[in-house]
Amino acid sequence: MASLAMMMAVPLLASNVQATEPAAAGEAVPVALVTGSTRGLGEEVALRLGALGYHVIVHGRSAERGEAVAAAIAEGGGRAEFRRADFLALDEVRALAAGVLADFDRLDLLVNNAGIGSDEGGRLVSAEGYEAVFQVNYLAHFLLTEMLRPLLIDSAPARIVNVSSAAQAPIDFNDVMLERWQPDDRQIGRPYAQSKLAQVLHTYDMAERLEDSGVIINALHPATFMDTYMVRRAGIEPQTSVDEGADRTLQLILEDIGSGHYFRDGAPARAHEQAYDAEARARLRQISLELVGLTD
Ligand SMILES: NC(=O)c1ccc[n+]([C@@H]2O[C@H](COP(=O)([O-])OP(=O)(O)OC[C@H]3O[C@@H](n4cnc5c(N)ncnc54)[C@H](OP(=O)(O)O)[C@@H]3O)[C@@H](O)[C@H]2O)c1
Repeated sequence: MASLAMMMAVPLLASNVQATEPAAAGEAVPVALVTGSTRGLGEEVALRLGALGYHVIVHGRSAERGEAVAAAIAEGGGRAEFRRADFLALDEVRALAAGVLADFDRLDLLVNNAGIGSDEGGRLVSAEGYEAVFQVNYLAHFLLTEMLRPLLIDSAPARIVNVSSAAQAPIDFNDVMLERWQPDDRQIGRPYAQSKLAQVLHTYDMAERLEDSGVIINALHPATFMDTYMVRRAGIEPQTSVDEGADRTLQLILEDIGSGHYFRDGAPARAHEQAYDAEARARLRQISLELVGLTD
């Protein structure tokens, strides 16, 4: 089957993609949900998808920035709308998924991108009392993906992209919520790195479960220290541009790359060892299902 890129005859990895012609009446418009697209990498990915002809569901917490991104897509001749949900509350994730299921009869692309860094102040907790970085970066996306999976399968060929990171730390199954974790200078990034590896375990696990469904799932490290709010807030001097990370992300959206890969620097790469432990993946899935109140 022809890929979306082929069908739309768009150049791959173009930094400044041109807006496509509006779809004719009755023509199916592909739908993409990009979490955390009110700024940073997600915003650039959303803008590019809008220019490629997707109806883009822009997501984040800031309605002001989200509406502005949706308006920019519309001004470029595309289609977009903003949906608000704070991933620090799982009910808001459920409401986001329920809204998408109610309002769209297809979902061609889910980009799980929303993220926060570890906090210098130490351990933060969500509305559910879960470790906050684990919840926003991984668990909320696990729940969102589970709820949207039937629609993605119905819309196949479809794709899921998990925006992870090269910063990866193993999950301690005796302390997933990091209650016994004591941040020190060396370990300050542990919540972030744990959540980012959890995304890779999720990617490999889902790839197996989605085999032959027509839905592919891959993860990536977009680029190192892009010029975004997250990086600047951590006091780090940016080393790469958002464009670079968006190029890498679009590669996973448009190119023929198979399923179940972790990409870094434009090619499949080896993730942390724990991602290749089938028992760890099954254990994380089981724990995650329990934490979000679902059964297998
Ligand atoms: N920057 C890098 O160098 C780098 C490197 C590797 C991986 N990454 C990954 O790339 C992704 C995007 O990062 P970025 O650098 O673009 O960060 P960013 O500019 O800080 O953007 C983060 C996005 O996530 C959303 N978000 C944050 N907290 C949220 C919450 N509680 N609920 C819902 N949405 C929330 C934000 O929306 P609101 O502000 O509207 O809430 C924003 O749209 C992240 O997953 C990050 O881990 C980044």
